[in-house]
Amino acid sequence: MKTSWIDAVDYLDARSLLLQGELVAFPTETVYGLGADATDSQAVSKIFKAKGRPQDNPLIVHVADINQAKEWLRDIPPKALELMDYFWPGPLTIILPVEKGRFAPEVTAGLSTVGVRMPDHELARKLIKSVNRPLAAPSANLSGKPSPTRPDHVWHDLSGKIAGIIDGGPTGVGLESTVVELSPQTDKLTILRPGGISKEDLAKRVDHVIYDVSLNDHSHAPKAPGMKYKHYSPKEKVYLVTEDWGLALTKILKESQNIGILANDKIIQQYGDKAVATYSLGQADDVISASHQLFNGLRYFENTRAQVILAETFPRKGIAMAYMNRLEKAAGFKTI
Ligand code: TXA
Ligand code: MG
Repeated sequence: MKTSWIDAVDYLDARSLLLQGELVAFPTETVYGLGADATDSQAVSKIFKAKGRPQDNPLIVHVADINQAKEWLRDIPPKALELMDYFWPGPLTIILPVEKGRFAPEVTAGLSTVGVRMPDHELARKLIKSVNRPLAAPSANLSGKPSPTRPDHVWHDLSGKIAGIIDGGPTGVGLESTVVELSPQTDKLTILRPGGISKEDLAKRVDHVIYDVSLNDHSHAPKAPGMKYKHYSPKEKVYLVTEDWGLALTKILKESQNIGILANDKIIQQYGDKAVATYSLGQADDVISASHQLFNGLRYFENTRAQVILAETFPRKGIAMAYMNRLEKAAGFKTI
């Protein structure tokens, strides 16, 4: 299949493709999504095929506004509406009960719930509105690879397999949305996947916010099916640097001479001469910039001589919880 590169102004071309049951990648504020009409079973099946995605991993449904969410998901609990009002548009996916038959069965992967979000990206919302129905969209990468934060990442992974890619430039947040489940009886909120909206942000609106136990204790099975898979992995080996960079480099140089450093400017300035390639996450202590750069950074080393990547870590709070979650998976939890 020939993949069309679609300029943002020509987004109505993407609309036509979607209405014909084809797949189009589009930008959101988090990462690029691989969109299909959420009501079209054949179209949604193509997503799983193009990505090589396991069938038991449900998709997030994207809406243009709160009214569209209300139209497609009746009886939304009041607390969920409150969260939508406050955090939408934005990187918050809310898992809600859904009637059977509302969406293509492949969207929910057999569950009685669906994840919904309204992206904080005008082009994404215009596209959804023009199609006049929700779009099912996972991140537009091959399963297991880092999520795409630029249209060329999507091209690299999926050209020839999907109908189109809308070029919306680099995405903003750079990490995927926070996925939360609301307990209807208690209004307790459980974070299944940390993301752009932090636990601290959520705690301003909800009395009880907790992390799914699997996020802190890896012996527990995660509640979001997608969280159990190996993910975000470049082909190089990745290590999290949790101690002194000088010591880490001395240790790792015994394993390989071809080291890549994924860290802030200061670390690169100090230790860059020991590496065959470096990628800057931004200034020191800037976790927003590091999150924005992480996936591009993980992909960057593919075209370098680096065989081992040493990556910077952050204390686990705020959005750093999401940064660390993605990086740990990329590293297969290997630390040095
Ligand atoms: O920022 C994002 O969320 C991006 C953009 C494109 O919107 N999308 C994204 O989709 O990251 P995906 O498919 O890569 O990740 C969706 C995650 C998976 O871990 C999946 O298992 C979980 O959400 N999920 C979806 N529906 C669920 C449900 N009903 N119950 C529990 N987890 C669910
Ligand atoms: Mg994904």
